[in-house]
Amino acid sequence: MAEKTFISSTRAIPEGEAVPRHVAIIMDGNGRWARKRFMPRVAGHSRGVESVRAVITRCIERGVRHLTLFAFSSENWRRPAEEVSFLMQLFVRSLKKEIARLHENGIRFRVIGDLSRFDDNLVCMIRDAEAMTAGNATLELTIAANYGGRWDILQGVNALMASGHVGEITEDALTPHLSMAYAPEPDLFIRTGGEQRISNFLLWQLAYTELYFTDTLWPDFDGDAFDEAIASYGRRERRFGRTSEQLRPEADITNVPRKGHA
Ligand code: IPE
Ligand code: IPE
Ligand code: MG
Repeated sequence: MAEKTFISSTRAIPEGEAVPRHVAIIMDGNGRWARKRFMPRVAGHSRGVESVRAVITRCIERGVRHLTLFAFSSENWRRPAEEVSFLMQLFVRSLKKEIARLHENGIRFRVIGDLSRFDDNLVCMIRDAEAMTAGNATLELTIAANYGGRWDILQGVNALMASGHVGEITEDALTPHLSMAYAPEPDLFIRTGGEQRISNFLLWQLAYTELYFTDTLWPDFDGDAFDEAIASYGRRERRFGRTSEQLRPEADITNVPRKGHA
């Protein structure tokens, strides 16, 4: 369970800020990037690590506090065994190579997802990296690995029941058990690679997130591309159910609470 819980976007209206506090990204298009260059798909995954570095740097520069990256979905096990194994090795190699630098830069590292299918060595490395960076607060970097949005909701419900909960399951009771309870809900979701779908990413947490889709393939996504997404976010009007008129500064925005709602 998290040390701190955040208000849910469906229970109260989060404060609007020009820069998103939390950005969640589906890093898609690595295979197509490589294929376009007559290279094996996995070359795109290797190259994608550079985009991860660029986006982390830009998040720190822009004051984004939480960055969540979808690295491997619970459905990605359906890929050819060699590609799955390459992705696991790339994860291990990148973690070994980058963790000291992440720590130096004040980045807190976490992994969400069902780690029970990963080998013990990788799980140990992840836990060590999480422990080492636990005191950092410049940027909270979360990697979603063997993650699925439905798995997250179900593990949350199971954890809640295991805690001895009796009676109705409410949002307030459930959300502390979801795997991202330590972060506010994403303000901005980015998917590269041209597909316009959620692919079982943060289903619960994306309830009121601004969605941004770009055709840019993940290995081509750089700091400037990230800034474009942030600029698009800055132009959005986040109404959370209200009307535009209610958002004008002179308007009385006090909402009339419905039964059981904040
Ligand atoms: C995303 O790129 C990376 C992972 C899913 C691990 P893809 O590998 O899905 O690339 P495309 O969509 O086939 O181009
Ligand atoms: C989503 O990408 C998962 C990750 C980026 C890790 P996919 O490329 O696997 O998504 P689908 O299968 O095309 O929806
Ligand atoms: Mg893909």
